[in-house]
Amino acid sequence: MAESRWSPESWRSKPVEQAPVYRDAQALAEVEKQLAGFPPLVFAGEARKLKRALGKAAAGEAFLLQGGDCAESFAEHSADNIRDFFRVFLQMAVVMTFAGSSPVVKVGRIAGQFAKPRSAGTETIGGVELPSYRGDIINDIGFTPEAREPDPRRQLEAYRQSAATLNLLRAFAGGGYANLENVHRWMLGFVKDSPQSGRYQELADRITETLGFMRAIGLDTEAHPELRATDFYTSHEALLLGFEQAMTRVDSTTGDWYATSGHMIWIGDRTRQLNGAHVEYCRGVKNPIGLKCGPSLKPDDLIRLIDALDPEQEPGRLTLICRFGADKVEAHLPPLIRAVKREGRKVLWSCDPMHGNTIKSASGYKTRPFERIVGEIKSFFAVHRAEGSYAGGVHLEMTGKDVTECTGGARAISEADLHDRYHTYCDPRLNAEQAIEVAFLVAELLKAERLAAGVKHVEAAE
Ligand code: TRP
Ligand code: MN
Repeated sequence: MAESRWSPESWRSKPVEQAPVYRDAQALAEVEKQLAGFPPLVFAGEARKLKRALGKAAAGEAFLLQGGDCAESFAEHSADNIRDFFRVFLQMAVVMTFAGSSPVVKVGRIAGQFAKPRSAGTETIGGVELPSYRGDIINDIGFTPEAREPDPRRQLEAYRQSAATLNLLRAFAGGGYANLENVHRWMLGFVKDSPQSGRYQELADRITETLGFMRAIGLDTEAHPELRATDFYTSHEALLLGFEQAMTRVDSTTGDWYATSGHMIWIGDRTRQLNGAHVEYCRGVKNPIGLKCGPSLKPDDLIRLIDALDPEQEPGRLTLICRFGADKVEAHLPPLIRAVKREGRKVLWSCDPMHGNTIKSASGYKTRPFERIVGEIKSFFAVHRAEGSYAGGVHLEMTGKDVTECTGGARAISEADLHDRYHTYCDPRLNAEQAIEVAFLVAELLKAERLAAGVKHVEAAE
């Protein structure tokens, strides 16, 4: 790519995919101006701290857990929802840290995950064709012409909701809720006799025992704040670039530009054109960047994207979020890993086992079979082991609620059960129990990965 000058608005001169058409340009300009004057949601120093943590994960010394709603909604914004999500997220993190013996980098798909790319610009129901729903930051999910009209003022509401969500998450992460001494309390809300609750209970007992031992030898939560707080970061797809531009700020300590709408942002599989607007925007901000990699990504194109997005080869800058589909990992992932290796680049490899495994159930619901989600994760780890590289993260669509959106799991949700509690605004999410089940699986795979790496070190030393 010819090195042209970057600015927060330089994306505007590039072809832009998935952009809504706003009828009232004046109203849009006013909203963007207002947003540009609002306080940042996150700070540059936090984004740098996350980048360092992701750099460790890229080097095989930590593991990334990234997850949350497919799309956040205005209607379901409540303290209960945020707490239920955070609680399950903490349970997953603690399972992976303890059972997987690995530090876990915690990144929510939350406090800004509002804009959705769509496969078609319009949707037809009963012979009526209307613009597609593009996420609450753009239009309304209701199927009327008024609801589907993009409304710029929704961006102000998305900002407000993100700020309120982040405020609560910061309080939970630092204010005592995430204290490891609460490991049993995160159980509450769990269905009592569920298959995962017994397993979790057992693990929580072992952690409590460990904490008791540590306290006895003088290592308590008073002296060790890392036992009672955790670093939790936010992320979302940087899709609506006008909003992102308005939230872009210069960091006064370094003079660098940062996206302040969230700690980490990612580029979707539909908007990763090398000369497109989304790559242009993301290349100029210093945040950690994610890049979704689907089956259509060619190894050479990936290398060009890496050159554009991480020219300085910064540890933790780039996370490749792979989403092939359970039956496609083995064919598509090895060529990408080999290309990255051949070029001597360092990236963090993460697995999104959700987006390549979506099917339509007989009853018409979009769903994801749990076996396929698990299958993609297992293949991802197996391929990395075979290629001698590190499977460093997972990216999940999940909720803290007991929904019925993905089939299968230990409690065997069937296609006939889907209608029961199908609440998602977009794609089907893992429910709380399915999410914990995935965490236990990942913990096992992580442990095996570490053992295998340990064996390799020994071999190398001989
Ligand atoms: N601070 C450590 C960490 O984030 C330990 C910790 C505290 C923790 N609370 C947690 C780990 C909750 C997982 C979940 O890893
Ligand atoms: Mn999705």
